[in-house]
Amino acid sequence: MTRLASAVVLLFLVSLSSFAAGSRDLIGDVLRLPSEASRFFGRGDDGPDEQDDGTVGTRWAVLIAGSNGYWNYRHQADICHAYQLLKKGGLKDENIVVFMYDDIAYNEENPRPGVIINSPHGDDVYKGVPKDYTGDDVTVNNFFAAILGNKTALTGGTGKVVDSGPNDHIFIYYSDHGGPGVLGMPTSPYIYANDLIEVLKKKHAAGTYKSLVFYLEACESGSIFEGLLPEGLNIFATTASNAEESSWGTYCPGEYPSPPPEYETCLGDLYSVAWMEDSDIHNLRSETLHQQYELVKTRTANDNSGFGSHVMQYGDVGLSKENLFVYMGTNPANDNYTFLGENSLRPSTKAVNQRDADLVHFWHKYRKAPEGSPRKIQAQKDFVEAMSHRMHMDQTMKLIGKLLFGIKKGPEVLNTVRPAGQPLVDDWDCLKTMVVLLLFIFSLMLLKLF
Ligand SMILES: *[C@@H]1O[C@H](CO)[C@@H](O)[C@H](O)[C@H]1NC(C)=O
Ligand SMILES: *[C@@H]1O[C@H](CO)[C@@H](O)[C@H](O)[C@H]1NC(C)=O
Repeated sequence: MTRLASAVVLLFLVSLSSFAAGSRDLIGDVLRLPSEASRFFGRGDDGPDEQDDGTVGTRWAVLIAGSNGYWNYRHQADICHAYQLLKKGGLKDENIVVFMYDDIAYNEENPRPGVIINSPHGDDVYKGVPKDYTGDDVTVNNFFAAILGNKTALTGGTGKVVDSGPNDHIFIYYSDHGGPGVLGMPTSPYIYANDLIEVLKKKHAAGTYKSLVFYLEACESGSIFEGLLPEGLNIFATTASNAEESSWGTYCPGEYPSPPPEYETCLGDLYSVAWMEDSDIHNLRSETLHQQYELVKTRTANDNSGFGSHVMQYGDVGLSKENLFVYMGTNPANDNYTFLGENSLRPSTKAVNQRDADLVHFWHKYRKAPEGSPRKIQAQKDFVEAMSHRMHMDQTMKLIGKLLFGIKKGPEVLNTVRPAGQPLVDDWDCLKTMVVLLLFIFSLMLLKLF
């Protein structure tokens, strides 16, 4: 074969393998593009049941971790923690739909096999988590089908969906990497903002909830709702960051407080840990969504130290006067712990940019591995590859900008962001094509053909 012909065949194989095998690394890295280029409660079978505070309806939850891989430990840890919180709040397993790849607890890198923690002194949050959608069943199609309660649209999984009625309350919580207008998934394709908003509109049109709360942790998470989520759907959403900035991992090696010494990975994410550690300790009948929003905003901003992000709110902000209890229930053990302003603010810590959390993992693995060991050599290789790939990616994006828009205008166009309040783009098909194209270019770079 000629060089050209074999290159073409290779290209074809690479593009196949990157999509078929759901090679998340490719996608995860595209989502980590530098910014210049560039996520309740038990319905009985006997209809609406009255909760013990007189709230009518069932509480439902959908919890979803969009990543896989040990270096993304924190996203699945967040989701497991959320499950434990809701379970203690009184939600039933039949009303909590969990999506997680489930490759962490028994990962060979996990120092405590079968255990996942979400804070340095935290208990195991993995025990008892329902495995509704794991591995390759963590798909955007299944996620949307679960929200819509459409069992016939499912492929794989336990078949659990949000089979809600008009008096019910729904809580959706997502944690992973994101990019402008897009949320990561461990499988292809990703979640695009316009598709998610369409699903929420469809759920509203079906009349199968009273109100819905969406908590979203991802980089550029504001871009999922900004200018896109209308008022009037009875949906209140908060996001870890605004439309243009990174969100942050926390409890990372080298921070204070840091994970136990045997861990070489971040245990949580700043916004996620902020809302969960607040909900963990209070009587949630005495705390409103708005009070939690303000507290999480303060903690996640991290004294504007540069290691933090701007928590945002979208949709029907008026709903935030409701108590957290309506969505999360409350742990009876917390009955005497009333929410008082800032009583769950933890001291601010250094946080790690979500986009750098993989580097932190490889670096600490390298630092701690015995001199000359295969583990040390592998960690060094992983670290250098992650670094050089980033530099290569930055250069490639700049080049594409120049090719498309000209040498002078390229950098300017790539840095243009629409003003706050407007959706990221109007042409979502174009954005999707662009993401797929970037994945393709990256797969070429992997083979050093580009
Ligand atoms: C459920 O999903 C199936 C398959 O995608 C689709 O044909 C059907 O219209 C959906 N049902 C509703 C009520 O949306
Ligand atoms: C709350 O306080 C009351 C009165 O002091 C006490 O009887 C009760 O056991 C406490 N409840 C919890 C869950 O600690």
